[in-house]
Amino acid sequence: MEKVLQGVVAVDGPSGTGKSTTARGLAMRLGARYLDTGAMYRAATLAVMRSGVAPDATTTDADGHDEAVAVALAADLVMSTDPAEPRVRLGGEDVAAEIRGVEVTRNVSAISALTEVRRHLVDEQRRIIAEAHDDGSGIVVEGRDIGTVVAPDADLKIYLVASDTVRAGRRSAEDTSAGRATDATTTGADLARRDRLDSSRAASPLRAAEDAVEVDTSALDVEGVLDRLEELAAERGMLVSALVHTSADGR
Ligand code: DC
Repeated sequence: MEKVLQGVVAVDGPSGTGKSTTARGLAMRLGARYLDTGAMYRAATLAVMRSGVAPDATTTDADGHDEAVAVALAADLVMSTDPAEPRVRLGGEDVAAEIRGVEVTRNVSAISALTEVRRHLVDEQRRIIAEAHDDGSGIVVEGRDIGTVVAPDADLKIYLVASDTVRAGRRSAEDTSAGRATDATTTGADLARRDRLDSSRAASPLRAAEDAVEVDTSALDVEGVLDRLEELAAERGMLVSALVHTSADGR
């Protein structure tokens, strides 16, 4: 009988380890919801860029408030948690493609290092997780601080890793298929820069939770990673048989 996921799976790890493909694929496979928290930091970054405030400089208004923080907190950001259509809306507009572009990628570390922005988005992420729980749905949440900060009580915590070469290759392939110009050296340097910034920032730096299971995706294909995660979820008793809905006349 078909199995569905109950509870929360946290998927963390550096860029290019396969987090999005894995987290979304697991949610699809197990009838769960899916939340891409990186997309939230990216959309907040796009909101700041569109407002004309420089994301990487601390500009304050007359009262001494950080302008980038104010714009990010006021952004009308709506995430859909359907893994078949993981939309990101900013002011009602679908920005899923734009937030993957080079400009946003270049600026996202600066915005995601702002403590107040993190606090705001973490609150929103917890609200979405609670909503899934109230609906009786499982949810797979991917990011950098899910197991450590957002959902420290997650039923299963995964920390994905992969070799630098494999990570740069995957990111280049992603860029190429999305029609973005790319070269291996620039991609490798960008990954290294973001790893450094994400791991060294004061607010919720990237690190594995103590009780996370490390999964090295370098030598595994997508199905191989999903099989391993499904096995771990099953070991924790997170998989239940799907209810078979039939109408009153048995159809
Ligand atoms: O997973 P991604 O590349 O789309 O994430 C974009 C950026 O957002 C990444 O450089 C780190 C940051 N991020 C974060 O700080 N915390 C999260 N939970 C998710 C992403």
